[in-house]
Amino acid sequence: MTANCAVIVAKDEGEARTLAKEAISKGAEALEFRLDSFPVIPADLSFLTCGVPSVATLRSPLDEERKDIFLRALASGATYIDIESDSVLRNRFPKEQVICSYHDFEKTPAEDEILAIFNDLRSSGIPKAAFMVRGPADLLAVWSAASVLREKGAPFILIGMGAAGEVTRIRAFDLGSMLNYCALRPELASAPGQITLEEAERLGTDPQVTAVTGYPLTHTFSPEIHNAAFKAAKILGRYVKIPSAPEELHLIPEVIRKYRIIGMNVTIPHKESVIPFLKRIDPLAASAGAVNTIRNSPAGLEGYNTDMLGIAASLASVDADPKGAEALIIGAGGAAKAAAAYLKAAGARLSITNRTHSRAETLAEMFGVRAVKLEDLAPAYQLILNATPAGMSGFEHCSPVPHTIFTKDTVVMDMIYDPEVTPLLAAAKSAGVRACINGKTMLIEQAAASFTLWTGISPDRAVMRKAFEARAA
Ligand code: ATR
Repeated sequence: MTANCAVIVAKDEGEARTLAKEAISKGAEALEFRLDSFPVIPADLSFLTCGVPSVATLRSPLDEERKDIFLRALASGATYIDIESDSVLRNRFPKEQVICSYHDFEKTPAEDEILAIFNDLRSSGIPKAAFMVRGPADLLAVWSAASVLREKGAPFILIGMGAAGEVTRIRAFDLGSMLNYCALRPELASAPGQITLEEAERLGTDPQVTAVTGYPLTHTFSPEIHNAAFKAAKILGRYVKIPSAPEELHLIPEVIRKYRIIGMNVTIPHKESVIPFLKRIDPLAASAGAVNTIRNSPAGLEGYNTDMLGIAASLASVDADPKGAEALIIGAGGAAKAAAAYLKAAGARLSITNRTHSRAETLAEMFGVRAVKLEDLAPAYQLILNATPAGMSGFEHCSPVPHTIFTKDTVVMDMIYDPEVTPLLAAAKSAGVRACINGKTMLIEQAAASFTLWTGISPDRAVMRKAFEARAA
């Protein structure tokens, strides 16, 4: 059985008692006291007797000093002391009072190696290992190692660290980890990826888990938006980040199944390459040749494209009717495909331009429209839509087209939402175009549509927008 264990990071004994009380009143079933957070270890450690199992942790190279403090901690009521596997102290205490721990802040090894580490740790106490999770392969290694450990029946603690490891914390109950370490407050997180006690208590033992994959996944605002929507809708749900390098994308379906993820967003650069791994593609997504939303249905993984709804809503917000309009899409990836499918279906007269012209040609051919070289672009468009990451935070700070193509009648939409004003939109604005739209509305609307696909509920868009703004601030 898994217990939510609040990590108590305090400056003195009084604060330790206060925080312990607060944690227990919020539902903590175990407490870890980080004795290393005290500038001076208090003479009185009786706060370790606190009504729930307690762990005393003190990371320090000074083993002889630590030994006495650990002895005092146990005498004061600590249920366990946490000792690292490379410490000479690991075999100096009764095994049933020791959590023998191992950390790898760089990587997660393969299942066999994880199990070998646990075998070694178990000789000194309850084994605990935390590994930095980088992507799907690491998540699967954690999952299969936990399955073997569960079968053995003896207690163990296994944690995936980092943002990509968050799902191992949310699914700690499935993994069978004895303790699920939680931060009492967000600013008190003692390890990367740790969730708060409040959130762990809210989610309970079987939350609805959703996620986003892409690579890299640093810029995404989606977790904040979806998590706010889950809370507002009173759904016990959580949205996590699972970055996947292209060579690990094929492992995503297995991650979805093992961690019981009900739905996943797919972003750059996987919107097209994910399709072969799905069981069924919705006709709208098929027409775009791109998937941004996966739903885990009983029949298998289904692919949808809610980006198209987001584009439609964005254009509607400035009364831009694509019907009969000369429209230019910049880009030839999955996002551009979705835009092409939508604009073609909406009756625009479409052209496509792209840094690599051959890709523009392929896409244009697919939709029976024109491909225009960047150097041949003329000021001929009522609608210009950027579907490349040029100008996005974390990508090249540049504009993907020459600024001579704007006219007073042009509506310019950038799918990018971070930064709010991209170099393209700044140039369009100073050219006095009819309207400029960034990717915010598209992000909110595609997110809302994905949320509905996963939960059957239409989320509160005002809540989503507020979460967006808080993140953007
Ligand atoms: P997605 O599936 O999310 O659209 P993608 O398939 O990687 O992602 O496509 C990215 C698009 O942005 C491509 O059109 C790419 O141009 P190339 O075909 O020349 O690679 C375009 N792109 C990426 N970075 C760019 C940059 N710095 N300037 C202009 N275009 C860029």
